[in-house]
Amino acid sequence: ERSLLGLKDLSGAEINWILDRAAYWNSQKEKVVPILKDRFISNMFFENSTRTRFSFEMAEKRLGAEVLNFTAASSSVEKGESIYDTVRTLESMGIDAGVIRLKPIGVLEEIAEKVSIPLINAGDGNNEHPTQALLDVYTMRKHFGELKGLKVSIIGDIKHSRVARSNLWALQKLGAQVKFCAPDSMKAPELERHAPYVTIDEAMSSDVVMMLRVQLERHEGGFMNSAVEYRQNYGMTEERARNLSPHAIIMHPAPVNRNVEIDDSVVEHQQSRIFKQMENGVPIRMAVMERAMKH
Ligand code: CP
Repeated sequence: ERSLLGLKDLSGAEINWILDRAAYWNSQKEKVVPILKDRFISNMFFENSTRTRFSFEMAEKRLGAEVLNFTAASSSVEKGESIYDTVRTLESMGIDAGVIRLKPIGVLEEIAEKVSIPLINAGDGNNEHPTQALLDVYTMRKHFGELKGLKVSIIGDIKHSRVARSNLWALQKLGAQVKFCAPDSMKAPELERHAPYVTIDEAMSSDVVMMLRVQLERHEGGFMNSAVEYRQNYGMTEERARNLSPHAIIMHPAPVNRNVEIDDSVVEHQQSRIFKQMENGVPIRMAVMERAMKH
């Protein structure tokens, strides 16, 4: 049984195995193939989610698993119970695997060492969001055929982004060239040795232009006053979308701040793959749960 805590320590071969299995699940006509019948999976979300939570649930149900959904807001976490005690509690009741989203960095590794069930990272702080990056590279591979040599720009709030980090690790292992673009306040200096920061014009010339959500909740103190300026300097505006290479694709993990990092009319632009990414999240998570639980 195998956990998936991040992509930094996963090999290119392991990533490709997951992408290939996702392609297999995507090709299946039957909606439910119960290879995980009689297995119990708990989705434990200590942070809010729409896409990740529901696509995990969809994936688990399509594999025939029994699903227990846990949301911190309606649990004993509100009484001060720790994340570790919560996971141990569910493990003691007999769950076979756990999917976890949480804020603190490093806690997931500690818990994974102490429990005997596989754990899947559904996003931990600004550290990693492995299944998001897997569905992103799957979306790119489906569109371009292969990742080797592909130029990928990741634009925006790199500093707070677990999506940027997981994509960086996965893309580099698969031979893609990653570039970052961000205002100084949103740069992650520790990543500079892994990928260069480039101008917005250079970033827009890539094959894949991935916009990140400006994490407005972390920019208190009037960021919205700067939203107009941010859009002008770093946003995927209609004008920038018009000037992309015809073969380029626009991506965004969502949720989007319309008219901040991406214009309202560009979200469903013909070169946008934003809803395709969400669609691809289901077969990716089927492959990840299969990897975690099936032998
Ligand atoms: N992309 C993503 O992780 O979305 P949610 O926060 O809605 O799960």
